[in-house]
Amino acid sequence: MSLTDREYLAINQARAMLQESGVWSLEDDLSCLVDRFIERADKGRALEEFMLAVQERCNRIPLGHIVGTVDFDDMPLEVGSGVFIPRPHSRVIHKWIESSAELRPGSKVLDLCAGSGAIGLAIARRRPDLNVTCVEFDPIAVQYLKRNIDRLSCKGVQASCLQADIRDDQALAHFTHQIDLIVANPPYVPQAQELLPEWGEHHPQASVYSGADGLELIRQIISLADQILVRDGWLVMEHGEDQAEAVRELFRRNDLTDIQTVIDKNESDASGSSVMTIGRKPQ
Ligand SMILES: C[S@@+](CC[C@H](N)C(=O)[O-])C[C@H]1O[C@@H](n2cnc3c(N)ncnc32)[C@H](O)[C@@H]1O
Repeated sequence: MSLTDREYLAINQARAMLQESGVWSLEDDLSCLVDRFIERADKGRALEEFMLAVQERCNRIPLGHIVGTVDFDDMPLEVGSGVFIPRPHSRVIHKWIESSAELRPGSKVLDLCAGSGAIGLAIARRRPDLNVTCVEFDPIAVQYLKRNIDRLSCKGVQASCLQADIRDDQALAHFTHQIDLIVANPPYVPQAQELLPEWGEHHPQASVYSGADGLELIRQIISLADQILVRDGWLVMEHGEDQAEAVRELFRRNDLTDIQTVIDKNESDASGSSVMTIGRKPQ
C-alpha cells in the first residue's frame, strides 16, 4: 500500500504513542489498527478514527474491544466491550484434541464458560462430526456467543448455546452421564492479583477472577464433570501456570485418572502461559 505523507507521519506517531503506553504487542496491534482504520476506512475520516482508536489502545482498552473482531483459530469472531477476548493460549486445547482425544462421531462436547464461543466453535469447525454446546451465563457474552454461532453456521460450523450458571446444580442436570468431553477456559485469577489493565480494568470481573485462590469455578467444573461425564469421558481445562499442582490435586481428589498438565510455550505471551490440565473419568 502506498501511504500519503500524513498517513506515514500518523503511523509513526501512533507507534511512539503505543510504545510509550507500554502495550506489549506493538507492531501486531499497530498493523491491525492501520488495516482497520487507514487501509479500509473512508479516507475523509480515516486518520481521525485511527488516532481515536490508537488513543483507546493507549488507554489499554483491549484491541479486540476496539476493532470488534478477533481472529481465533482461523475464524473471525465478533467481540466487544463486556465479553472476554479469546487468547491464542486456548489453542493448546485444539492441538490436544487433534493429536490425542479419542472422540467417536456424535460425541457430545460441552464448552463451559464459553464467552464468545472461541473454544467450542473451533472444535465444531475442526470436528463437524461432534455435537458441541457452549455454556455461558453472562447476558452480554451470550449475545456475542449467539451472534458467532449464527455467523459461523453459514460456513457449516454447527454448535448450540445454553445460557446457564454452572454453579446452579440443576442447570446442567439434563446432561447427567451424557458428555464425552468437557473443555473450559474458566475465570481463574485470584481476587487480589493485579493484572495488566486490559484484564484488570477492561474485562468483566466475572470473566477473569474466581474467588480468593482463583480456583472457585475450577472446583465447580471438576465436581460437575463427575456428574455429567460418561465413563472414560475427558475433562480439559485451562488455568494459571502456578495453579498446576493444585488443579492436579483437585482432579485426583475427584477420582479423575490419566491426569497430565500441558504447557505450550509457543502459545504463551506476555499476558501469561498457555497451560491446561487433562483428566479422564474412570471406567
Ligand atoms: C476466561 S473467560 C473465557 C471465555 C472463553 N472460553 C474464551 O476462552 O474466550 C470466562 C468466561 O466464563 C464466564 N463465566 C463466569 N462465571 C460463570 C458461571 N458461573 N457460569 C457460566 N459462565 C461463567 C464468563 O462470563 C466468561 O465469559
